[in-house]
Amino acid sequence: MQLISPSLSSMPMLLGNSPAMTVVRRQIEQAAAAGMPVLITGESGTGKNVVAQTLHLLSSRRDQSFVQVNCPSLPHTLIESELFGYEQGAFTGANHTRSGKVEQAQNGTLFLDEIGDLDVTVQAKLLQVLQDFRFSRLGGAEERTVDIWLICATHRNLQEEMEAGRFRSDLYYRINVVSIELPPLRDHRSDIPMLLDHFLRHYEEKFGRSLEPLSSSVMRLLEAYHWPGNVRELENLVKRYVVLGTEQAIVEALNESEAAAATSPFIVDGHLPLRFQTQRAVRVLERQIILRALNEHRWNRRKTAQSLDISYRALLYKIKDAGLPRLRQGNATPCSPEENER
Ligand SMILES: Nc1ncnc2c1ncn2[C@@H]1O[C@H](COP(=O)(O)OP(=O)(O)OP(=O)(O)O)[C@@H](O)[C@H]1O
Ligand SMILES: [Mg+2]
Repeated sequence: MQLISPSLSSMPMLLGNSPAMTVVRRQIEQAAAAGMPVLITGESGTGKNVVAQTLHLLSSRRDQSFVQVNCPSLPHTLIESELFGYEQGAFTGANHTRSGKVEQAQNGTLFLDEIGDLDVTVQAKLLQVLQDFRFSRLGGAEERTVDIWLICATHRNLQEEMEAGRFRSDLYYRINVVSIELPPLRDHRSDIPMLLDHFLRHYEEKFGRSLEPLSSSVMRLLEAYHWPGNVRELENLVKRYVVLGTEQAIVEALNESEAAAATSPFIVDGHLPLRFQTQRAVRVLERQIILRALNEHRWNRRKTAQSLDISYRALLYKIKDAGLPRLRQGNATPCSPEENER
C-alpha cells in the first residue's frame, strides 16, 4: 500500500509492511479522514514525527500550514506566549505584538510534540482552546476563534502521568480521541531489511558512495539486536556504515551498545511502579548471566544450557527474548555449528 501520493514523495515516508506497521498505516488513513484529535505514542525513535507529518499530508488540510511545537524545548514561562502569542506591553520585553503557534496553525494542523512534558498551567489554557476553539493573546482583550487540527505525540505513559498528577485527565480525553501506538522496532523485526535498504540507498546517494550489500552474518546480528533506539538507531548505524565503509563499524556499535546495557542494568525511576522496575531488573540480570555463560562456553548453546540447568529449548527462547544474537559477535572464534550441537 502506497501511503504518500507521488507529488508528496519528497516528504519523509513511513516504511514497513509487517503486520504491526500495516495496522499503523490503516489507523493513519482512518485518522486523516476523520480529522479528530490524534495522540501518537511510542518509544523514542519509533517514527512519531513521521506519522504526524504523514497525517497532515493525507488530510484535507494538506495545503494549509503544519505548525510544530516542541514542548520540552521551551521553558514553561515562554511556552504560553509561544502558543498563544502576545500583545505589545503584555510583559516586560514584549516590545511588539506577536502571533502564537495556535494562531499560525489557523485552518491547518497544530502538532504538539512531547505533550507529556507540557507545564500543568499551560495544560489548563490549552484545554480551554480545545473546548470552544477560542483563545486570547497574552495581554489581549480580543477573543479569537481558531480552526485547527490537533495532533499530539509523547513517549511518556500519560496514564501514569495522570495518576501522578502531572497530566490533566480532562485534557487527556480531549487530545486522545484517536490514538496511534507505534511499535518498538524489536516488535516488527521483519521490517529491518526494508528499512536497511532504504537508509543505505539514501546515505549512499547523500555521501556519493557505493557499498557492498551487508553480509548475511551482519544481517543476522541486526535482526537479533534489541534496538533500544528503534528506527533512529538503525538509521544512525547505516549512516555510520556508509561513512566508515566497513561492516566492522556496525559490529563495534552493536557491541558498545550491548556493553553499555550490561554496565548500567538498573534504571531507577521514582515514577514507575516497583513491580515494573523489579521485573525489568530481573530481565536485565538474567540476560547478563546468560551472556556470561555463553561466552564461557564459546557460544556452545548445549553446554551453556547444561551449565545453567535449563533445557536447550528454554535457552534458545531466552536468547531470543533477551534480544541476544544467535551467534557470537566480534573477532573471537565461536564454536562450530557441529560443535554447538554436541
Ligand atoms: N517507519 C519508518 N519509516 C521510515 N523512517 C522512519 C520510520 N520510523 C522512524 N523513521 C526515521 O527514524 C528517525 C526517527 O523518527 P522520528 O523522529 O519520527 O521518531 P520519534 O518517535 O518522534 O522519536 P522521539 O521520541 O525521540 O522524538 C527519523 O529520521 C525518521 O525518518
Ligand atoms: Mg519525536
